[in-house]
Amino acid sequence: MAVRASPYADELVQTAKTIASPGRGILAMDETNGTCGKKLASIGLENTEANRLAYRTLLVSAPGLGHYISGVILFEETLYQSTVDGKKITDILVEQGIVPGIKVDKGLAPLSGSKNELWCRGLDGLASREAAYYQAGARFAKWRTVLSIPNGPSELAVKEAACGLARYAAISQDNGLVPIVEPEILLDGEHGIERTFEVALKVWAETFYYMAENNVMLEGILLKPSMVTPGAECEDKATPEQVASYSRKLLHRRVPPAVPGITFLSGGQSEVEATQNLNAINQTPHPWHVSFSFARALQNTCLKTWAGRPENMKAAHDALLLRAKANSLAQLGKYTS
Ligand code: 13P
Repeated sequence: MAVRASPYADELVQTAKTIASPGRGILAMDETNGTCGKKLASIGLENTEANRLAYRTLLVSAPGLGHYISGVILFEETLYQSTVDGKKITDILVEQGIVPGIKVDKGLAPLSGSKNELWCRGLDGLASREAAYYQAGARFAKWRTVLSIPNGPSELAVKEAACGLARYAAISQDNGLVPIVEPEILLDGEHGIERTFEVALKVWAETFYYMAENNVMLEGILLKPSMVTPGAECEDKATPEQVASYSRKLLHRRVPPAVPGITFLSGGQSEVEATQNLNAINQTPHPWHVSFSFARALQNTCLKTWAGRPENMKAAHDALLLRAKANSLAQLGKYTS
């Protein structure tokens, strides 16, 4: 069987390597306008295009961000936006050595026939949307689907998630975008860490099976897993060492060394917890770059500190850079709290 080769193969490998560079990780700021609106509401701002732009401009303009951040995931609106001073957001990123990325999925919907589970939409028209995103400067993509442990996950939900991710990954590579493959295993639930581990093994086995079926070039992808933790409502909390031990075991059992980078999501962990766990995971060498692709665990304090006031911009930048630097150290296994 001839293996499909993307005309972008060399570029994809290079893009993935740039994102997976030592001491750097990804800032996820690709919240949909609805989710961004909830963040703005939490600081008393209205969900207008101007306010979304002000917040997103604040994030990308933190001085020296590129020391710690190699990629930024944008929502479609932001990819095409310029700041009030007329500078394209993508140019601000590229000037700092940061690769612009784009959320390409169309969000979650009820998965008929399942146990109240969800699936991720967005394959229709994906190729042409991605070709346009490449023209606008994006070089990597994100597709986030979710699996719920309290609701299952059912065989159907796992297969649907894996097939969708694999199809998206192949289409992204055809269009020059490095796909971030993200089957998020949600934190909600009372289950212990063993159960999360078991589900994660199953989800990643299926995801790699379907990526192979779709001839996805593993050297040109990035993974975005959940760390292996107990459910948020579990009575037995796990130490960073326990989270690290299970998360490493998962990666070693399921991820081929051809994959250049693993960028964990924070998934509702506190800022410090996410950093401590990443640092613990990086206490031993791996065949891949193991880093972060955090939204909440990078943005939470920054957003609160800013509170929509121009006079708080410097303090908000400092808050973002503090977390970015801490996670950079954790990528290197050198974070101390
Ligand atoms: P959190 O780090 O807030 O989980 O978000 C990461 C992300 O981009 C989810 O898709």
